[in-house]
Amino acid sequence: KKTENQMLVIFGASGDLTARKLIPALFNLYMAKQLPENFVVLGASRSNLSDEDFRNRVVFESEYLKEKIKDLKEDEINSFANKIYYEDLGGDYDTDYAPLRKRVEALKEKHNTSGNIMYYLSTPPTLYETIASNLADAGMNTQNNGWKRLIVEKPFGYSLDTAKELNDGLHKYFTEPQIYRIDHYLGKETVQNLLVTRFSNSIFEPLWNRNYIDHVEITNAERVGVEKRGGYYDKSGALRDMFQNHLLQIVSLVVMEPPIGAEAEEIRNEKVKALKSLRVMKDAETLHENTIRAQYVSSVVDGKPVKGYREEDGVDPNSTTETFAAIKFYVDNWRWHGVPFYVRTAKRMPTKVTEIVIHFKQPHHQIFSEAGMQRDNKLVIRIQPDEGILIKFGVKVPGQGFRVERANLDFYYSSLAETYVMDAYERLLLDAMQGDATLYARADEVEAAWEFVDPILNYWKEGKDVRMYGYAAGVWGPENSDELFDGHGFWRNPSE
Ligand code: BG6
Repeated sequence: KKTENQMLVIFGASGDLTARKLIPALFNLYMAKQLPENFVVLGASRSNLSDEDFRNRVVFESEYLKEKIKDLKEDEINSFANKIYYEDLGGDYDTDYAPLRKRVEALKEKHNTSGNIMYYLSTPPTLYETIASNLADAGMNTQNNGWKRLIVEKPFGYSLDTAKELNDGLHKYFTEPQIYRIDHYLGKETVQNLLVTRFSNSIFEPLWNRNYIDHVEITNAERVGVEKRGGYYDKSGALRDMFQNHLLQIVSLVVMEPPIGAEAEEIRNEKVKALKSLRVMKDAETLHENTIRAQYVSSVVDGKPVKGYREEDGVDPNSTTETFAAIKFYVDNWRWHGVPFYVRTAKRMPTKVTEIVIHFKQPHHQIFSEAGMQRDNKLVIRIQPDEGILIKFGVKVPGQGFRVERANLDFYYSSLAETYVMDAYERLLLDAMQGDATLYARADEVEAAWEFVDPILNYWKEGKDVRMYGYAAGVWGPENSDELFDGHGFWRNPSE
């Protein structure tokens, strides 16, 4: 695909994301010769920085680029750095953007980037509408001299209402096809591979329904705690930070019906339908039985003391924000009727891992009956790390009789050694630069996800006697988290 000449204007450019993710992604694209010939980045934010300060910060002195640039020739690094500029917004995003416009015009002339502009909003979401409206006031959203697109970062809303307000606010100034809501999980190769696994293999798709699947399990675990983001996290929690966006995106890809084609709108239409079919839990009893929340407490991991969540910087010592969330739910449609889904996400687990496990039903009639044997087939889709796919099935143990044992058939992405796997941000930025929105969340998708999450959040906030469990850092969550399975199984703890 062709990437047209364009300019990328990053709002909130002095923040962490620009140095940590965006510039390294652009750098990789630059090295892979994927950037358009005429291309400029203009960072904009409230900090008072010169072009030179900004280049030092995000390129020359950046800890995130250090490894990548250490063996490069000076002119190679410079030719990348020279594409990067900075505009000081003068302490406030809510201001007249005429000077910004002038700068954009000047850079456009200088680098011949044409009128195509991508605006990347990497600011707190409360500023999104303000920025969009100021861009409009300055005439910077008009498409008569090149396209204008807007990428917005998460969190997209704090609840269903705030997500709707945000959508409505942006739609005043930009049309839906101009808006790209980023969810970096969709940029992961293994998440995209879910579509290929399901829809290009006739050995899976016929089985992908209530007749053959017993239940579906998704685990997202991180070893780290809230790190330096206590202030943000305490207002968010696991459900908002990971579940509403990343995990429900994965769920939608597992649940969706086959789209009629691979076009962005065809795929996104099916994802919305999938999200709308999640059974919303309304009454306290259902919410009580199907949701578990917990916080990590202080403990010792590998001989070192680890702070409890409530002791972390920026966290309220009486906080009721969850760092572990486990949800059981059903999908109300023909394909999934009666199949439970179990999804959990947490910080301070024993390891970092994201995986989907499809548990198939056992054969109806057992011929080889041996006590205690696990008879179900499993398909494990490992999103990260050790990206790959594993099928667990039974084989006969050599010898007399019919003793059956589990065996694995596996595929690891690392075996495709010569294939370069793009980082999520790299892939997503390039897609947006080319106008491909397939891997971006549409307004109705985001709202459908909030419809499902809102009642859980409300119940956790206002319900009577909602328990908050504790778990020691380095274990797989609170002891009772298997109770969600009602004796019908338990969480598969990867690497066990
Ligand atoms: C982010 C969350 O969206 O995703 C973080 O805000 C989390 O809390 C991160 O650590 C996890 O991303 P990944 O790609 O490392 O699984």
